[in-house]
Amino acid sequence: MKKITLVYFSPTKTTETVLRGITQGLARSLEISGAEITAVNFTSPKIRETELEPFDDNDIVLLGAPVYAGRLPADAADFFKKMTAAGTPAILTVVYGNREYEDALLELKDIASACGFIPVSGAAFIGEHSFASTDIPVAMNRPDENDLKQAEDFGADTGNLLKTTTELKKISALKVPGNFPYKEGMGKGAPDFIEVTDMCTNCGICATACPTEAIDAEKGYATIAADCILCCACIKACPEQARLMKDGPIKDKARWLNETCSTPKPVQLFFATGV
Ligand SMILES: Cc1cc2nc3c(=O)[nH]c(=O)nc-3n(C[C@H](O)[C@H](O)[C@H](O)COP(=O)(O)O)c2cc1C
Ligand code: SF4
Ligand code: SF4
Repeated sequence: MKKITLVYFSPTKTTETVLRGITQGLARSLEISGAEITAVNFTSPKIRETELEPFDDNDIVLLGAPVYAGRLPADAADFFKKMTAAGTPAILTVVYGNREYEDALLELKDIASACGFIPVSGAAFIGEHSFASTDIPVAMNRPDENDLKQAEDFGADTGNLLKTTTELKKISALKVPGNFPYKEGMGKGAPDFIEVTDMCTNCGICATACPTEAIDAEKGYATIAADCILCCACIKACPEQARLMKDGPIKDKARWLNETCSTPKPVQLFFATGV
């Protein structure tokens, strides 16, 4: 009996939503029940301190992360690199905010291969941009119904590929777009771009949502700029809309993205060839 494991980083949950859609199609195609499906959401810094058990050929693993500056977020890449696998098929997904995904999917493929996975399929989906808000709606509400239908179909097609492949080790190498050396990624540290208004009720939800422990509850839930990765999970999680993006370079970037990347991009899917 095969097991499916989702391993993902997803501060604003679009990657998680896409991976869940892919899993539905995959599980249906391979007749794998919900009891055999587990998720490792390593957005939480506590989870990133743990080591995963090695995967083997009874596992099928979905790896997913958002695209940050055309690369994987550094925290995600570092966690993925700690995994070990032996002939385990991997389904690779990056989710980006309708600009470009550049080298992120290639980086994920290279990491997965180095860990011992056999990448069988890869995808670049669109997710609402982390910087989006109702007045600057970059890729707002993606993944939409159509994206999620494609996610399910992608999962089912990958399941069919696995069913018809007799020798996984001889599968053709998965080809995905991207260049090596990869483009320069982002470091940690952000400009002071968030304000906390007097609507704040001190509920602490933003601090729990933050993947880098960059919110200081003792100082009015202020952002610790040096630890912030700009993911905007705290802004989107705040039930009072008390955390707002200030005017400044990040808001300007959001406006620029909204003007420049307004044409919705299609999902891109890639498959290895079975033998
Ligand atoms: C710091 C940062 C950099 C980003 N860089 C890109 C990028 O290079 N291209 C792009 O299209 N979207 C970019 N995005 C948008 C995210 O990839 C997108 O919103 C994604 O859906 C977020 O995934 P999540 O919901 O799983 O956190 C960036 C977001 C952040 C926070
Ligand atoms: S989630 Fe919003 S209301 Fe709650 S502590 Fe954070 S800023 Fe305040
Ligand atoms: S403080 Fe920074 S890193 Fe933490 S959730 Fe907010 S934007 Fe993301």
